[in-house]
Amino acid sequence: MKIIRLENIFKIYGSGETEVKALNNVNLTIDEGEYCSIMGPSGSGKSTAMNIIGCLDRPSSGSYYLDNVDVAQMNDKALAHIRNKKLGFVFQQFHLLPQLTALENVILPMAYAGINPQERRDRATEALIKVGLEKRLNNKPTQLSGGQQQRVAIARAIVNRPVVLLADEPTGALDSRTTQEVMDIFSELNASGITVVMVTHEPEVARQTQRIVWFRDGEVVHSHLTPADLNHMAVS
Ligand SMILES: Nc1ncnc2c1ncn2[C@@H]1O[C@H](COP(=O)(O)OP(=O)(O)O)[C@@H](O)[C@H]1O
Ligand SMILES: [Mg+2]
Repeated sequence: MKIIRLENIFKIYGSGETEVKALNNVNLTIDEGEYCSIMGPSGSGKSTAMNIIGCLDRPSSGSYYLDNVDVAQMNDKALAHIRNKKLGFVFQQFHLLPQLTALENVILPMAYAGINPQERRDRATEALIKVGLEKRLNNKPTQLSGGQQQRVAIARAIVNRPVVLLADEPTGALDSRTTQEVMDIFSELNASGITVVMVTHEPEVARQTQRIVWFRDGEVVHSHLTPADLNHMAVS
């Protein structure tokens, strides 16, 4: 099953002299259960593509089928609903609320999902156990290492049981040891059935995924690289 299907996607910023074609006829499909990374030079359209895949932005033209529903031109309210139900996000800078504990940060996305308070706590606790933070439920972000904060962010991203987990440079702010902790969690989540798509510029991160999509100048120039293929590519 194609969980993500981008067809003839264009994204154009500005107009006239200042026009930028951030995405230039992108066609890309991702199967349910895949573990995929997106690579390519800076400015090649990776984040623009992720924002569209994540329903944070709409394409200028083209179709985007998420779980067989065309979401390309849905209004903001409908997109917000889809995001909450089907997608989880992890960002480079964690984006945790500093005044809340780990548990409270993970409870937050369920506020919109109509789940009773006890079940919210149970599900948030379960998600934090999954990422190995059962001893840190009541710590605030400043009391946690970068790797632990990113694990809280992952718990928050999976607590509504998304079909797709999206991550834009999730290890960009981490050292190599905590990068590996976080990558191990993504691998486990993928093994449990969640489709994972991440942007990275680190070959050692991309090598741990199953499939690498390569962007250049707003186009997908390679849609199915394997980790071994990366050894032959110039990465910039
Ligand atoms: N909001 C925006 N307004 C104007 N241009 C943008 C905007 N966002 C991105 N761009 C341009 O679109 C192109 C692709 O950007 P982006 O998707 O952020 O690339 P990447 O994530 O691969 O570095 C770049 O030329 C960038 O300058
Ligand atoms: Mg980017």
